[in-house]
Amino acid sequence: MSGKSVATPDFYTYEWDPIAGAEVDGRFVDLRWSDGAELRAVDFWLRENAVGAGGVDLATREGLFDPAELCDDIAIAALEVGPDGELRITWAPDGVEAVYHPGWLRHVADGQHLATSWIPRPVPWTAATMPELPTHDGSKVLDDDAVFAGWLNDMLRHGVSRLRGCPTDADFNSALAGRIGAVRDTNFGAHWDVKADVAMAGDASTNSTANTNRRLGPHTDLPTRETPPGFQFLRCIANEAGGGFSTMADGAAVVDALCAEHPEHYEALTTLRWVFFNRGPGIDHRWSGPLIDLGVDGSPLTLRAFYPVRGFPDMAAEDMPRAYAAMSCFSRLADSDRFKLASPFLPGDLVGFDNRRILHGRDAFESGGHRHLRGMYIDHDEVRSAARVVNRRLGQTHSTPNS
Ligand SMILES: [Fe+2]
Repeated sequence: MSGKSVATPDFYTYEWDPIAGAEVDGRFVDLRWSDGAELRAVDFWLRENAVGAGGVDLATREGLFDPAELCDDIAIAALEVGPDGELRITWAPDGVEAVYHPGWLRHVADGQHLATSWIPRPVPWTAATMPELPTHDGSKVLDDDAVFAGWLNDMLRHGVSRLRGCPTDADFNSALAGRIGAVRDTNFGAHWDVKADVAMAGDASTNSTANTNRRLGPHTDLPTRETPPGFQFLRCIANEAGGGFSTMADGAAVVDALCAEHPEHYEALTTLRWVFFNRGPGIDHRWSGPLIDLGVDGSPLTLRAFYPVRGFPDMAAEDMPRAYAAMSCFSRLADSDRFKLASPFLPGDLVGFDNRRILHGRDAFESGGHRHLRGMYIDHDEVRSAARVVNRRLGQTHSTPNS
């Protein structure tokens, strides 16, 4: 294998970007390109990524090294930059020669291998900075990559993005999911309906407060799960009712404000736990966690904020009064005009939003009438993957660390 036919450790194609220099420094290889880009690569990582040379399988493009096999016998015996700018390493102890695509190495130098690459970074918003929901053409989203990418990227950036003009037939959600990824099934079904006229408040036949005519305060769905669903999609099929506007507030911005303006409440909401559970015939879902779950560094913010399914404080008795005070402050902030956007749901509207970031709700209905929303959940992984694929295809790099 030589020159520009070098295989990469994945199935992507990379521009050929010749390496200008390579030097061994102890356990590391320092690579540089003519425009000043640099990459410091550790030897075992290069050995693991030797395609077709015992590191990465050519057929699956997956790694072959069990970490137990990475021992001190493995070392660089010889290294050179080839005539086309590729990296060539001869490995001890087996004498295998590996060739590395310089464009693939360059994408690591540019940070395009990171989980944050090819998708926009989240940008917190308030009602002042984003007075309208970002809106895209629902009639084109299935066929037009630019529309699909614009809608997905706004969902990832702002946590919420609307399609207007979608078909109102029952199957559109499935078709849209087909472009994104697997639907997250729950005890409400993979595809579920919110019909405000089928069960009025107090009707024992419904399994969710959403199916009543009550106001729904700002909340996130299914905090009863260890990992609540990532994105929620609500499409309006019919709406003849008055009022009942959909409300959205950016939990990321509310959390930032709480941290800055009410640090004692922020501390309480990020540490004190509550038990959430879905009660129903044949189901018993429970999870205990704080309302603001920051997770490990870099993981998504998860807000557990749905009072209809919040069961019990899971904390010391002396902490309970301040837990209630903090929760009340948080909900008032989320429901204030500073953060909340209220929009009507028109037939053909579909709103996609980050269920673990955006606090959604519904104003009370002012007059009766048929209102039918059809919903589904799709996890973060699927939405990010779909966005990376379409952004790569369109050449939209968004937020690589060096850009
Ligand atoms: Fe909800």
